[in-house]
Amino acid sequence: MKILLTGIDGYLGWPLALGISKKFKHFKIIGVDNLSRRKWVKECKATSAIPIKSMSQRIKSAKKLGFKNLFFFKGDLTNTKFTENLFKKHKFDIVFHLAAQPSAPYANSDVSKANFTLLNNNISLLNILWAIKKYGKKNLKFINTSTTGVYGQPNFEIPEGFVKATNKKISDIIPFTNLGGSWYHITKSNDLNNLHLANRIWGLKIIDMRTSIVYGTETRETKIHPDLNTRFDFDFNFGVVLNRFCAMSVINHDITVYGKGILKRPFISLKDFVISMVNLVSYKQKKPFEVFNQTTEMLGIKYIGKTISKNANNIGFKSKIKMIENPRREKESHNMKMENNRFIKLLKSKPISFFSESKIILKSLISNTKTIKKFKKSLI
Ligand SMILES: NC(=O)c1ccc[n+]([C@@H]2O[C@H](COP(=O)([O-])OP(=O)(O)OC[C@H]3O[C@@H](n4cnc5c(N)ncnc54)[C@H](O)[C@@H]3O)[C@@H](O)[C@H]2O)c1
Repeated sequence: MKILLTGIDGYLGWPLALGISKKFKHFKIIGVDNLSRRKWVKECKATSAIPIKSMSQRIKSAKKLGFKNLFFFKGDLTNTKFTENLFKKHKFDIVFHLAAQPSAPYANSDVSKANFTLLNNNISLLNILWAIKKYGKKNLKFINTSTTGVYGQPNFEIPEGFVKATNKKISDIIPFTNLGGSWYHITKSNDLNNLHLANRIWGLKIIDMRTSIVYGTETRETKIHPDLNTRFDFDFNFGVVLNRFCAMSVINHDITVYGKGILKRPFISLKDFVISMVNLVSYKQKKPFEVFNQTTEMLGIKYIGKTISKNANNIGFKSKIKMIENPRREKESHNMKMENNRFIKLLKSKPISFFSESKIILKSLISNTKTIKKFKKSLI
């Protein structure tokens, strides 16, 4: 069996590659990346708080540590020839598509970044879809990572992927993908339209993971050796809120909560992200187009800040919550509710709680406070 994993150098891609490699030793895992995430973070004058090795060093160390079935090719998926050649040369059984420009603030910062994000994310996926159509195996399983952000903030409980629409008493079930709050999210909605079309007209089997906000510093595999670390960003553009709060607290910086802090968002730990994605390798698909809401907890922003501050204070730090005016346009008192029954069945294990995992993040960051201090400016 051959697996393609796009975005292998990324925060999620690298631990996922290790997770699949460990469980499916007889599979060949080919990772592709153009290393652009490293470039974007540098461009924002930020850095990963946890040091990471170059991609070639990662693969070398991983092989020494027993992950022998991992391979890496550098390349840009927006390049049609490169993408076609990949599928011409390798008969993949499964594709995990993670490559993307994944930051909403970065995409929304100016017109060139919005244009770039659209081109990068949507052209990459279209190239892959057409390459599959031309050279792909008949029964290929395509696993996409989109985001729960495509749902926006509707006034109803968010279902897993589809809504019932009724007009003049006649109803239909249609994909629900279209209320995203940034041009990054819009690229994911566009991807979902393209995937649904490929499913309808070519019969391509698709699983879409609506990934929620992922937090955490380690998985069972990354903690085997520091050479296997995954990145941990804490800057305004690339750091997710929970990671940013942890970074703030270990340098005794105030934890800045926007607005009333009552806004709720869906979250998942990096460990549960990897476990559930690895489970998809042997998952028997029930429908040609399936969606999972990949989330385990709905958390309020102020609650996250308070808990992190409390956990950090228990180990000697002095950070406290500071409420600041919300610079974002969002429904602050929105009561976010999201169905995830199908996802919890897929996960098969007890979800990891934010409360316990945040203590582990703080511990991992303690030895890297110098790096965070150096880039303190980028925290706000
Ligand atoms: N991390 C999260 O909280 C989160 C939440 C929801 C969805 N997602 C989605 O999960 C996926 C992975 O996210 P991540 O946090 O690991 O992001 P990441 O930026 O760390 O990883 C994406 C990788 O894709 C690579 N890449 C981007 N464009 C490419 C191209 N044209 N050709 C080849 N490689 C390219 C980047 O260099 C990077 O290494 C993304 O699709 C993201 O939108 C992530």
